[in-house]
Amino acid sequence: MWHFMRIFLTGATGYVGSAVLDALLRGGHTVTALVRDPEKANRLSLRGVHPIVGELSAPKSYAAAAEVCETIVHAALEPSKRGPDVDRQAIDALLGAAIRHAAKGQPVGFVYTSDVWVLGNTAGAAGEDAPVRPTPLVAWRAEHEKIVLDAGRGRMVRTAVVRPGIVYGGGARGIIGDLLKDAANGLVRVVGDGRNRWACVYDRDLADLFVKIAVSPDASGIYHANDEADERVGDIVDAVARHAKTAPDVRHVPLDEARSKMGPYADALAMNQIVRSPRARDLGWVPTLRSVAGSVARLLEEFRTAREAA
Ligand SMILES: NC(=O)c1ccc[n+]([C@@H]2O[C@H](COP(=O)([O-])OP(=O)(O)OC[C@H]3O[C@@H](n4cnc5c(N)ncnc54)[C@H](OP(=O)(O)O)[C@@H]3O)[C@@H](O)[C@H]2O)c1
Repeated sequence: MWHFMRIFLTGATGYVGSAVLDALLRGGHTVTALVRDPEKANRLSLRGVHPIVGELSAPKSYAAAAEVCETIVHAALEPSKRGPDVDRQAIDALLGAAIRHAAKGQPVGFVYTSDVWVLGNTAGAAGEDAPVRPTPLVAWRAEHEKIVLDAGRGRMVRTAVVRPGIVYGGGARGIIGDLLKDAANGLVRVVGDGRNRWACVYDRDLADLFVKIAVSPDASGIYHANDEADERVGDIVDAVARHAKTAPDVRHVPLDEARSKMGPYADALAMNQIVRSPRARDLGWVPTLRSVAGSVARLLEEFRTAREAA
């Protein structure tokens, strides 16, 4: 195990990446972060981070900074139509930087953030060796994962793909954060009958897994990251509704109707997934939170703290 490392991080201002950043800093690592907003870059530098102001689609802005780091963690994603193309460009640039680092005879790792949604509806419990059958929203991910994993087969660069479940915790971000907000506002929409199961993960637990992978010289390949609670969406919504000051209306939207409004995102929300993380567990990773429904009081507390800090 390496102890203090130089890490290059993309997405440090995002939901996943900011949790990873916190965990890296807690672990005493030196972090260089690609940030596109100078104001956010200033805020990170106050925390001891070396910000590189740049943009995923402009590799010249960050390739040299990535090249001098021992591990590259790619946790950014542009939420636009060109997002998948930009992601491909960033993977090529970051893998290129890692290969140049390795050519100096130094070990280097590249950690890519994917998504459990690449598994599609699971047939039984899906471990990391389960077939990839992505829901249409993330169909492009399969090729990106393959490029990253193939690059690791040459042994010059150690590559890993993390597939997080739906992230919860840390405030008002993400699907669960939206659910907390919607419940407080009195109306929660559920795609389908809510009997489907989601794979979820607490943000700090997910971040701990990223750090374990970043610092373990032998960690490579696919890692699932979820709390293995196999919760039904309806049970999560019931628990959130019970904690609201006034019980919200819960409206079940048929998949066809939801699809006509939100496109393929509706299919992703309607998926039924049972996901297992045996490879992550083999690294000694043990999630501290084991369910969304059982953690609602805590999540609301984190939500309030984040709002006050903003
Ligand atoms: N959230 C989840 O529940 C979840 C679950 C599974 C997988 N994932 C995956 O985790 C990754 C991160 O997701 P997230 O939820 O953290 O997203 P997010 O909160 O939207 O954060 C995205 C990050 O990427 C940065 N970014 C976007 N476009 C950029 C560009 N062109 N150049 C440089 N930086 C750029 C953003 O910077 P700004 O601050 O400037 O916007 C932000 O730091 C994604 O690949 C996502 O699919 C997320």
